[in-house]
Amino acid sequence: MQLLSQFLRHEQTDEELTDLIATLMVACKEITLKLRQGAISGVLGATTDVNVQGETQKKLDVISNEIIKKYLLSHLTVAGLASEEESEPVLANPNGKYLVVFDPLDGSSNIDINVTVGTIFSILEAAPEQGYHDEAPFLQKGRKQLAAGYVLYGPSALLVLTTGNGVSMFTLSETGDFLLTRDKVMIPQETQEFAINMSNYRHWEPAMRSYIDDVLEGVDGVRGKNFNMRWVAAMVAEIHRILTRGGIFIYPWDARVPQKPGKLRLMYEGNPMSMLIEQAGGIATNCYSDILDVEPKDIHERVSVALGSKKEVEVLMEYHQRIETVIEKKD
Ligand code: F6P
Repeated sequence: MQLLSQFLRHEQTDEELTDLIATLMVACKEITLKLRQGAISGVLGATTDVNVQGETQKKLDVISNEIIKKYLLSHLTVAGLASEEESEPVLANPNGKYLVVFDPLDGSSNIDINVTVGTIFSILEAAPEQGYHDEAPFLQKGRKQLAAGYVLYGPSALLVLTTGNGVSMFTLSETGDFLLTRDKVMIPQETQEFAINMSNYRHWEPAMRSYIDDVLEGVDGVRGKNFNMRWVAAMVAEIHRILTRGGIFIYPWDARVPQKPGKLRLMYEGNPMSMLIEQAGGIATNCYSDILDVEPKDIHERVSVALGSKKEVEVLMEYHQRIETVIEKKD
């Protein structure tokens, strides 16, 4: 089995990018160890702080953020970083080539119940000529990502990575190496499995409700087939399932916070996951257009997402084209 470093060399990935990805993986291995220790090392539970999103920070959100920051700030290729847990971007080496945007621990409501969580990251090209006094250099469309991926902390720890040349999966071995265990991942085009938080049904747009109504009708309705539903409440786990066996994952706009386009964050959730999904032959949309083409205006901006099997996402988009949007909003 190929080591991550051998694989990247073989793919002719830029040496500095290879080294940066390897450094990120050292940080993720440290997070894996913290997660494994759980209650023994006193890392479970919440802090008394809230993050920039207004969400209570879990101890492990903060610990994971500090671990990743520590490694990135000591890496000379990193010009700056932005994280879900940092209100402002953090500057590093002004001559660095890369910007790293990340969610240190996605799905953190799962931590205390010992269910899958993950780290999501996106690597962008730095623009030294713009300086780093504000967010501007980070506000690049998802299409411009140089690399994107996640580390899933489940029964095994896995890295799922793209550098724009397909999607590959690496499993963390007993010796602490990430070994290539699946290459050129492709998502089946059709599916009978969907993932959405059904408790928000009453807050959705008519098009979204209508799509789900028809899915639930199963073989007796216009879709003519039965569907199964899954909801892990961690985007990493949902996307991993879709990359493994197909499906559709949706977190749509809803009327609970009408001025926001959705719950999930564009730059460190929507964009990296969309790059992986597209690289694996799926579609990643905000229900109207490609997420990777959204021009970001704010590091912490939100986005509606529908990601997964090509033909199923096309069906969902068709409902949004056909059924009028009655709610004033968004992107
Ligand atoms: O980052 C937000 C997140 O934890 C995602 O990983 C997950 O898909 C979603 O929120 C779960 O949302 P809800 O609380 O509605 O189940």
